[in-house]
Amino acid sequence: MNEERTSIHGQWSSKFAFILAATGCAVGLGNIWKFPYITGENGGGAFVIIYLICIVLMGLPVMIAEVLLGRRGKHSPINSMRYIAQEESASRWWQLIGWSGVVAGFIILSYYSVIAGWSLAYIPIMAEGTFNVVQSLSSPEAVKQFAQNNFATLISNPITLIGWHTAFMAVTIIMVSGGVKGGLERAVQFMMPALFVLLLVLLGYAISTGDYFIKGVEFLFRVDFEALFYPNCTPDSCEFSGRGVLVAMGQAFFTLSLGMGSIMVYGAYLSQKTSIAKTTAVVVAADTMIAILAGLIIFPIVFSNQLAPGAGPGLVFQTLPIAFGQMPWGTFFGTLFFILLAFAAWSSSISIAEPVVSWLVEATSLSRRVLCIFVGFLAWFIGLITVFSFNIWSEVKPLSNFTMFENSTLFDLLDFLTVNIMLPLGGLAMAIFVAWVMRSRSVTQELKTTESSVLYRLWLFALRFITPLGVGLVFLNAIGVFS
Ligand code: PFF
Repeated sequence: MNEERTSIHGQWSSKFAFILAATGCAVGLGNIWKFPYITGENGGGAFVIIYLICIVLMGLPVMIAEVLLGRRGKHSPINSMRYIAQEESASRWWQLIGWSGVVAGFIILSYYSVIAGWSLAYIPIMAEGTFNVVQSLSSPEAVKQFAQNNFATLISNPITLIGWHTAFMAVTIIMVSGGVKGGLERAVQFMMPALFVLLLVLLGYAISTGDYFIKGVEFLFRVDFEALFYPNCTPDSCEFSGRGVLVAMGQAFFTLSLGMGSIMVYGAYLSQKTSIAKTTAVVVAADTMIAILAGLIIFPIVFSNQLAPGAGPGLVFQTLPIAFGQMPWGTFFGTLFFILLAFAAWSSSISIAEPVVSWLVEATSLSRRVLCIFVGFLAWFIGLITVFSFNIWSEVKPLSNFTMFENSTLFDLLDFLTVNIMLPLGGLAMAIFVAWVMRSRSVTQELKTTESSVLYRLWLFALRFITPLGVGLVFLNAIGVFS
């Protein structure tokens, strides 16, 4: 029985420590870097609505399921799934959930580290006061050019990018080596509140842009489905695309770190006493709030500087430095912001590495430290693909024959494969396992509820029907079945 099983990796010291760690895992580049730029690329409000619907109807239920699996298994995702499948007399193949998480984890960690490296690169750029000159530039056009050039100079240099990527990965590995409580729990306890306070300061700045703030709010919340479904309209042709919906669903899974075992392994370190549903709801709410906050900060700055909302992955790195360059104490806040962004990224990257590392610890007799170095090196090496996608391989577009991937670089494809395909499928498999395969007695026992509870029934309904239907429809839509 699971009561007798204990985690060999340790346990969170309290419920609050779990909430902070899981929030640290969820809140990261996905909220501050990715959410604004994909919202910009997909036309704004309609995309945000689809994203929020996915969070409530799929993200929250699947997250509860994933934490539940972790706490019941108390091991790495691969072994947790193995034990639980055995106990529930289900097929051994359910372990594949853990394996697919390992593959997705390597790929995500590899590019996550490169992008987080950009954040590290901007720390000295801001500290040197580079962006203070924007105050003396005469036109918005000149300001925009300045920000774009700065970013382009960074990403066009593979050596610089490799340097920052190496630094980020090295620190990730050191933190993961320290284990569950080590430095990690303590770091997260300070960094998450600090990031939140700084975001509020930036919101104050965004509000001070007046009309542009209103334009930003409108962009985020005015629902215009044409902008979502017909993104590439020219005066003579308009082609339907379901891709935006797939991206919104993928983002719901990515931002909550679902479908690849990170949240499962964090659940494995959770005390048996804690309520899974309540703690999970807090994490989902915090994550969603921070993404919306990032959008409210970034779009007013985009509009007030005539930047394009669809600028792509460089959006945050081009917009925020302009704002810092114009505000009092900007050098200080700018430097602090990129430091905190790097910390938010670290508190996520450690969770991406943990499923693989915990499995290797269980499966081999090597020390955690040696295994971390191995995992880090492999992910670092795969990360070179992402580094080169922004410079020497920027014209390598292997799937350019397909309209949907016409402009996709290798980085875009890796991102698409993991976030839009592997995470939703992983989440779907977990939902099916918990809701259809596990005995309801095991599930209610873990959730400390009864089968007659209304909330339990709603949750089960979401897992049984909404998640499979949602993931299925979105895939069919994306491959063009409805167009
Ligand atoms: N949720 C993280 C973010 O929004 O940046 C990224 C992430 C972490 C994805 C852990 C997947 C994962 F397993």
